[in-house]
Amino acid sequence: MTERVPYLASRLQGLGTTIFAEMSALAARHGAINLGQGFPDTDGPAEVADAAVAAIRAGHNQYPPGPGIPELRRAVAAHQARFWGLTPDPDTEVLVTAGATEALTAAVLALCETGDEVLTFEPTYDSYLAAASMAGAVLRVVPLRAPTYDFDPSDLEAAVTPRTRLLLLNTPHNPTGKVFSPAELAAVAELCVRHDLVAVTDEVYEHLVFDGRHIPLASLPGMAERTLTVSSAGKTFSFTGWKVGWVCGPAALVSAVRTVKQFLTYVNAAPFQHAVVTGLELDDDFYRQLASGLAAKRDLLCDGLAKAGFIVHRPAGTYFATVDIRPLGADDGADFCRTLPGRCGVVAVPSSAFYTDPAAGRHLVRFAFCKQDDVLVEAVERLATL
Ligand SMILES: Cc1ncc(COP(=O)(O)O)c(C=O)c1O
Repeated sequence: MTERVPYLASRLQGLGTTIFAEMSALAARHGAINLGQGFPDTDGPAEVADAAVAAIRAGHNQYPPGPGIPELRRAVAAHQARFWGLTPDPDTEVLVTAGATEALTAAVLALCETGDEVLTFEPTYDSYLAAASMAGAVLRVVPLRAPTYDFDPSDLEAAVTPRTRLLLLNTPHNPTGKVFSPAELAAVAELCVRHDLVAVTDEVYEHLVFDGRHIPLASLPGMAERTLTVSSAGKTFSFTGWKVGWVCGPAALVSAVRTVKQFLTYVNAAPFQHAVVTGLELDDDFYRQLASGLAAKRDLLCDGLAKAGFIVHRPAGTYFATVDIRPLGADDGADFCRTLPGRCGVVAVPSSAFYTDPAAGRHLVRFAFCKQDDVLVEAVERLATL
C-alpha cells in the first residue's frame, strides 16, 4: 500500500502531529495526565460560550460572507488598535480564517511559487514545514540556540538567498516560549526591508506573555506595508476547537490570502464568528487575568520540573515549557516521552518534532501548562518520583 501514498502526503506524514497523536494515545492507554498537546482543560469565558449558543439559536448557521462577518472584522481591527496601535481597515485589510493554521498555510500558498524559500526560526511549529511543502517551497531555518533561544543575526543573513520570498516569524514562540525582544525584532525587520521580503507573523500567543511584552512585527518601521499578522481566538479565549482565526495586513496581500482560502474552506464557523466578537470586546481585566493566571501555572510547573531534576528553560510566554532531560540520565526525548506515561503517568512531547534535524532537539522535551492547578500539582508530584 505505502508505495501508493502520494508523494506530498508521504512527506507530511512524518511531521509533528503524528508524534502528538501517538503521545495522546499513550495518555489514554495509561490514564496519564496529558501535558503533551497544547490545549486548555477548561473552557473559556461563559459569556463567549453563551454568545455562540445565542448565535446558533439566532440562525447564524449558513455560509457567512467570504472575508468573515463584518462585526468580527471590525472587532479584530479594534483589537489591533487597542492593544498594538495597528489600524487595519476592516473592509479590505482583515480576513477571517479557519484558525491561524489556515491563515498561515493560505499565506504561504498565496505568496510562494515552486522553489521559493521561506525563512523561519527553528524549532518551528510543525505546520510551517507542511505549508511550505504544499506550496512546493523550501523551508530554510535559522537556529534559536537553547537554552536562551537567541539567534545569531549573521545566521539569519546567511540564510537569505535570491529565492527567499517570505519570512515567517512566530512570537511568542511555540515550542520554546520565547518572546522576541525589541532588538531582535528590529534586526528581523531591517533584514525584511533590505531584502524586500514579505513577513508573515504567527501571533496566536500574543496575550500569553509573562516577562517582557509582545511587539507585533508589523508595528516596526517599514513593516506595516509588508507584513501579514496572523492570530486566532483559540489560545486567547480557550476555545481551540472553534477554529476562528484572522489575518491582517495590506489589502493586496490579504486579498491574495483570501483567494486561496476560497478554495480551501471558502468560509468557516459562522456562529463562532459572532461569539468571538464578544470575546474580543472583553475588558482589559480579562486579558490581564489570562496572563497572570498562566504565569502562576508556569511557575507551578517549572518549579516542579526543576525539583524533579530537569534543566528548565523557563518560558517568557505561551503555555509551554521546555526541559533538558540529560540530568535524568536520558538523552533521547522521543524514547523518554514514550516511557514517561508508564513510569509516572505523565505525558509530554519530544521537542525533536519541532526540528527539521531531529538530532538538534533530541535532548529536549516540551510540557504544556494550560491545565487546572490541581492537575498540574498532581503532575508535578508524579514527576518527582522519577
Ligand atoms: C504557533 C502556533 N501557531 C498556530 C497554531 C494553530 O492555531 P489555530 O488552532 O488557531 O489554527 C498553534 C496551535 O497550537 C500554534 O502553537
